[in-house]
Amino acid sequence: MLKKVCSGLPLNPLPPAKKTRNTNVPHAPDRKPSLTNEERKLAIKNALRYFPSNIQPQLIDEFQYEMDTYGHIYMYRFQPDIEMRAYPIDEYPCNCKAAAGIMLMIMNNLDRKIAQFPDELVTYGGNGQVFGNWAQFCLVMNYLSIMTDEQVLVMYSGHPLGLFPTRTEFSPRVVITNGLVIPNYSSTDDYERMFALGCTMYGQMTAGSYCYIGPQGIVHGTFITIMNAGRKRFGTNDLRGRVFLSSGMGGMSGAQPKACQLLGCIGVVAEVSEEAAKKRHDQGWCQELIYDLSELIERIRECRTKKLATSIGYVGNVVDVWERLATEKETLIDLGSDQTSCHNPYHGGYYPVQLSYDESRKCMKSDPEKFKELVHESLKRQVAAIDKLHERGMYFFDYGNAFLLTAKRAGAPVGGTDEKRCIRFKYPSYVQDIMGDIFSLGFGPFRWVCASGLENDLQQTDRIAQDCIEKLMAKGNTPNNVLEQYDSNLKWIRGAEDAKLVVGSQARILYSDQTGRVNIGLAFNEAVRSGRLKGPVILSRDHHDVSGTDSPFRETANIEDGSAFCADMSVQNVIGDSFRGATWVSLHNGGGVGFGEVMNGGFGMFLDGSAKADENIRQMLYWDVINGVSRRSWSGNKNARQTVERAMDKESKLKVTLPNELAEECIQKLST
Ligand SMILES: NC(=O)c1ccc[n+]([C@@H]2O[C@H](COP(=O)([O-])OP(=O)(O)OC[C@H]3O[C@@H](n4cnc5c(N)ncnc54)[C@H](O)[C@@H]3O)[C@@H](O)[C@H]2O)c1
Repeated sequence: MLKKVCSGLPLNPLPPAKKTRNTNVPHAPDRKPSLTNEERKLAIKNALRYFPSNIQPQLIDEFQYEMDTYGHIYMYRFQPDIEMRAYPIDEYPCNCKAAAGIMLMIMNNLDRKIAQFPDELVTYGGNGQVFGNWAQFCLVMNYLSIMTDEQVLVMYSGHPLGLFPTRTEFSPRVVITNGLVIPNYSSTDDYERMFALGCTMYGQMTAGSYCYIGPQGIVHGTFITIMNAGRKRFGTNDLRGRVFLSSGMGGMSGAQPKACQLLGCIGVVAEVSEEAAKKRHDQGWCQELIYDLSELIERIRECRTKKLATSIGYVGNVVDVWERLATEKETLIDLGSDQTSCHNPYHGGYYPVQLSYDESRKCMKSDPEKFKELVHESLKRQVAAIDKLHERGMYFFDYGNAFLLTAKRAGAPVGGTDEKRCIRFKYPSYVQDIMGDIFSLGFGPFRWVCASGLENDLQQTDRIAQDCIEKLMAKGNTPNNVLEQYDSNLKWIRGAEDAKLVVGSQARILYSDQTGRVNIGLAFNEAVRSGRLKGPVILSRDHHDVSGTDSPFRETANIEDGSAFCADMSVQNVIGDSFRGATWVSLHNGGGVGFGEVMNGGFGMFLDGSAKADENIRQMLYWDVINGVSRRSWSGNKNARQTVERAMDKESKLKVTLPNELAEECIQKLST
């Protein structure tokens, strides 16, 4: 079956046309790009150029239909019938094992169990595409199956430009760019137009770089974030009896109930799509579902009183929950956030409270202006209710979904001075208050996939990682702020297997710093070499990290020297990773906060047990952390400076420019 999937575009015979879409699976909202008639024709011509001219007459009608009905040509006919999942690495036809590893990762990103809208090639975040259409998928699988170590696959925003000769020793196997545009043309309208034309694609990050590992990818980060929010608010890690309210049970947001469950608090997460809520409930990621608001309030009250640890999914709009809670006499919520896809508010990322789910999906297409107004109104109502609960002691934070930015643009009074460059709102972003200092120590979302597909391999890697952290902790001279992180990561990895986090590929996430990532990577590679692991290991990370992402409303929201809107770090990261041993690299415009709002870079690294992989780990994982730590140190972060100074003590070749303290006399002069 995989041989067929890897055999290129099926043309002889053509697969049968899909007259209707599969109604049993969720579909991306229909888009309404404002194209001129000429642009509409161009979009169809662009799609047809993937096919020989004698075949084009058989496709033109359906491509026109898809354009006019869905606002994009997905080429449903070419979606393979095979069950999409991370098949073990040995099952892919290939001339180069690393390429087989990449195919495994692509198949995982489109697995129905984890992808949000698999038929539209969307993995998560509403519009995080793996490819822009199914022809691109077929071509890429074919290229990867025939490529050798002397070729590189070049990906332009979903479109495979082709295989190109390259040097075997240093070159990545795939170089991906997504959504890169001339900076002045980076508005969401530009994006909608160019996506419809088939020229660009929003890859989020792990969608368009093939590194998604299901909702597990965000659980550890969400766990750390909620735990530290609690520590900030109550001065303790013990969150029993405390209530966290948020929204969304989609790709990433679906991690929230699980994280609450692992923390032992009461997680309440509203999800407007019954389908999404049921999916997370069926997967065991959310323990109970409630459909009635009064019943929800009673249940929260009961869980608070009895200090019951649970995760409650409310099937409905989160604004209803906020407004209802604001009218209750007691303050039933301790911590609050939001994780709707506010980076994409007018195309299905945010559902306004005035409409039902189905009404919203109709309205966003039939009357986009009206829909926009309703979204603004709903956001204002949500902020008003949050304000009331905040006044009564609830701690609210923005969790990296552009909620406060979008609310501000909608006219909600969320503070902030300057319309364009404001990154300080009335409520903190979780990076400003919580995660920024942890990133600055070099900790970030290190993760791996066991390419054999064997559960036992994953268990072995969990043990190896545990062992590495224990050894690091046993070493002397580790500052307490680093030891504290190691300790919480050790607890996490010890409990990871029992927490049943795997959905899709045999993958694990574990926040680690530079030393941890390198040591764990080397230990995995040794285990592949010795045969302790039955197959190779693929390393990667997401964008929620120290170096890979320039995102003034998220990852770099705590950069205070005015450079938060610069993107040198992420671009340097990808360039640096590419010649230090990454198996594939990716650079994206967009990501969690939206097109034009963020640049992020990522990588994948294939560990086959070779000595070359050891060198790749030492070189590339080192740069992938130290780059961002150095930048954060230059911008004045104390944790980052501590980390850089320790790194320079260990490595004589590392010479980082450190900022000097400003003389008190000069500060005095400036303030007069
Ligand atoms: N903090 C982080 O580290 C982080 C990481 C990844 C993604 N994100 C961002 O978080 C957001 C969510 O990501 P995702 O992958 O879960 O997106 P998603 O689109 O898969 O899920 C969002 C969910 O919110 C639901 N929703 C929308 N409006 C609602 C409303 N008013 N009430 C209740 N439910 C509503 C949608 O039905 C959807 O299921 C995105 O903006 C993403 O970019 C943040």
